[in-house]
Amino acid sequence: MADDLIRKHREFLKDTLRKEYDFSKTDQHRGVPAPPIQKPFDPKAHRVPLPSPEEYEGSVQGADLLSAIVRRESRRHYLTDPLSLVELSFLLYSTQGVRQAPHPSLALRTVPSAGARHSFETYLLVKKVEEVPTGLYRYLPLQHEMVFLGDIEDMEMRVSLACFGQQFVGAGAVTFVWTTIPYRMEWRYGLLAHRVILIDVGHVCQNLYLACEAIGAGTCGVAAYDQQEMDELIGVDGKEEFTVYLAPVGRVR
Ligand SMILES: Cc1cc2nc3c(=O)[nH]c(=O)nc-3n(C[C@H](O)[C@H](O)[C@H](O)COP(=O)(O)O)c2cc1C
Repeated sequence: MADDLIRKHREFLKDTLRKEYDFSKTDQHRGVPAPPIQKPFDPKAHRVPLPSPEEYEGSVQGADLLSAIVRRESRRHYLTDPLSLVELSFLLYSTQGVRQAPHPSLALRTVPSAGARHSFETYLLVKKVEEVPTGLYRYLPLQHEMVFLGDIEDMEMRVSLACFGQQFVGAGAVTFVWTTIPYRMEWRYGLLAHRVILIDVGHVCQNLYLACEAIGAGTCGVAAYDQQEMDELIGVDGKEEFTVYLAPVGRVR
């Protein structure tokens, strides 16, 4: 039988607030300009251009959707072979790629998001991807590029330790770490933002699972990590932006 604290926390899963919340208090309603849809980057930083979706045809050995769905499972054992740049590009495009940007404050992506607010940033701990030096990167969906953020000493060990010693996390060729910038969602939904942020991130990781299956790679969603250590590892402040989910990716066949 659930105790009172558990019962209280269950309320977070419900949409009851929608009928109670005063939406006239949201910044969107009050006419505050929308926040940037992508975190700014240092224009002088090194950027890695990614192959465009038109280039996936022929170079990404994609399985059909049905077999990707049937085969999908959490994979925690990876071969040591690298991923190719085009494969990493495909995985990034599948999870956060922009398919349409009708105006500067709206980018429609390959995954859905409540109110199309897309509150996530994707950080990449790159260990073994052809043509990409090891280190920490961030995906820039609007440019379809990765910006280099820096080297991380003992990256494999540190990411595993930040996941309470789950060793497979450091064993991937690349680890995707999704942060949220909650204000992007709060601007529109106020107190209702947080529930939909977590719903949104499930869509993102499910696309990663399926895209991995399609290219002979595997992944495993990881929600058990030390919040502070993971945020420090990728260099986010833990207040206005923090980790919500991560997933190592490696070749499995
Ligand atoms: C939200 C979420 C969090 C998870 N966190 C972890 C984790 O921290 N460590 C881990 O090894 N697996 C984690 N998993 C993977 C689950 O253990 C896995 O999905 C489950 O055992 C079912 O196996 P399947 O994905 O192969 O069907 C997580 C999965 C989800 C969806």
